[in-house]
Amino acid sequence: MKIALINGSPKKKDSASGLVLENFKAFLTGDDQIITELHFYRPQISTEEVDKLMDCDALVFAFPLYVDAIPSHLLRCLRQLEWVLTALNGREILVYTIVNCGFYESQHNELAIEMMKNWSVRAGLKWGQGLAIGTGGMLNMLENIKPGQGPFKKMKKAFKQLANQILTRSSAETIYFTASFPRFLYKLGGEAGWRKAIKENGLKKKDLFLQK
Ligand SMILES: Cc1cc2nc3c(=O)[nH]c(=O)nc-3n(C[C@H](O)[C@H](O)[C@H](O)COP(=O)(O)O)c2cc1C
Repeated sequence: MKIALINGSPKKKDSASGLVLENFKAFLTGDDQIITELHFYRPQISTEEVDKLMDCDALVFAFPLYVDAIPSHLLRCLRQLEWVLTALNGREILVYTIVNCGFYESQHNELAIEMMKNWSVRAGLKWGQGLAIGTGGMLNMLENIKPGQGPFKKMKKAFKQLANQILTRSSAETIYFTASFPRFLYKLGGEAGWRKAIKENGLKKKDLFLQK
């Protein structure tokens, strides 16, 4: 079975989506799996990348939520792919999507997952499953803490479920994951990050509250 793992973050390095895929890969066990890893960080895909995708049985996208939706560069890539994929004539490719967001609640990703579902229908593909991840600001910790440990205790189960759908080529309802961490502490951490960033950019804390 050929599976494509596609990082849809515009960040060339250090993306949460990349770390999620890196950790998720370990759950796609089995001898006959061929994994192709791609990174769509620009608004177009090369013909070589298109060829690799057309040869796959499952496409697994992982991207950040941008303004409650799909990042615009990725949307362009999807539009480009649509033309090619609709010409496949009946070959069944399944689409799975992991969306992570900065907000605490994973439900914010629901619309973007719905958009991906609609895109798969339009591109003549079959929808598999979505995984919505909240607390995206904590995902950089995946470098040291594995799924199943600490705040990512419940991530192992979510990854197992998604991997199982992919390996059995089946579809299921969206899975929702938020790190096991108090909401108020997550918010405090996020606000500290904004204060640090504004200082580094030569502005004052009160400028965070400027209105147009
Ligand atoms: C332009 C932009 C728009 C964003 N919009 C949202 C949003 O609507 N909701 C949200 O929860 N997070 C939003 N975020 C936060 C990202 O989804 C979050 O930082 C994510 O973890 C980044 O993932 P990545 O490192 O894979 O790019 C936004 C970030 C950027 C840069």
